[in-house]
Amino acid sequence: MTADLSVRIGDLTLRNPILTASGTFGYAAEYETMVDFNKIGGIITKGISPEPRLGNPQPRIWETESGLINAIGLDNVGVEDFEQSKLDYLRKIECAVIVNFFAESAEGYAKLARTLGAMAGVDALEANISCPNVKAGGREFGVDPVAAAEVTIASREATNCPLIVKLSPDVSNIGDIASAVADAGADAVTVANSMPAMAIDIESRRPRLSFGRGGLTGPAVRPIVTRLVYESAQATDIPVIASGGASNWRDVVEFLLAGASAVQAGTVNFVNPRASVEMAEGLETYCRQSGINSLTQLVGAVDMP
Ligand SMILES: Cc1cc2nc3c(=O)[nH]c(=O)nc-3n(C[C@H](O)[C@H](O)[C@H](O)COP(=O)(O)O)c2cc1C
Repeated sequence: MTADLSVRIGDLTLRNPILTASGTFGYAAEYETMVDFNKIGGIITKGISPEPRLGNPQPRIWETESGLINAIGLDNVGVEDFEQSKLDYLRKIECAVIVNFFAESAEGYAKLARTLGAMAGVDALEANISCPNVKAGGREFGVDPVAAAEVTIASREATNCPLIVKLSPDVSNIGDIASAVADAGADAVTVANSMPAMAIDIESRRPRLSFGRGGLTGPAVRPIVTRLVYESAQATDIPVIASGGASNWRDVVEFLLAGASAVQAGTVNFVNPRASVEMAEGLETYCRQSGINSLTQLVGAVDMP
């Protein structure tokens, strides 16, 4: 018997809960020879902005003992080029295509949500309200429930496309933000973006990254994100998508038990490009061997003291 691993995000059904995280999977074509898109639930594109962006100057990645600090600065081709040069390929791949996007104002988010949401081949949108690596926009929307709700309402009114809102981990009560965004009409929340961080070269006494600070991702953040996923799932009824440090199917099961309905593979793609497929296959085997026939038996099933 095969387990039903499907997941609903608004009107969208994913064949299984494994997604690839924005910014770690390019525009999917880059992984064509390594990843069988048929085996995963969906891919999430690099964050798209109204205009093309070069991002921050190098160096913009620093490897730590158990993760990465990045300050890419949302380098991307912009919405026009995305439609012209990336979308044809994405229309052909056999998994959900979720487009991550961001702007500098609620109106900017609404305009982009309208444009992207109307493109054939775009199955869902993920609004990034939480990037720590830019001077304008990004994180300031994600740390305040009112601003987070404003961006969500504006985006929601602009499109019927399933809307995921990606939250910041850098808040004292993520449940407040998750429930504000859910009340504002989001179909799901992603928990969470990279964790504000910093590394210094002791010889030069200068930061390792040109931007000064950056965002930590990878295995180092996973226990923190597990707690944030748990708190978000307790605070809202919409699906929570875990993003932070998942490396294998065991991590996926742990996130599901904490309350996630889906899990993103991010930094691990740089170490093992097939990680997302291996997670999906491992989850399937685990469910079969444990007599689990639906993910609902796992989601939020942590036995808390
Ligand atoms: C190099 C890099 C670029 C990223 N770019 C984006 C981005 O454009 N938009 C976004 O919402 N998140 C971006 N992220 C955050 C990831 O999507 C993900 O939420 C984060 O890395 C945590 O998951 P992980 O620990 O599995 O990598 C980026 C992360 C990395 C490492």
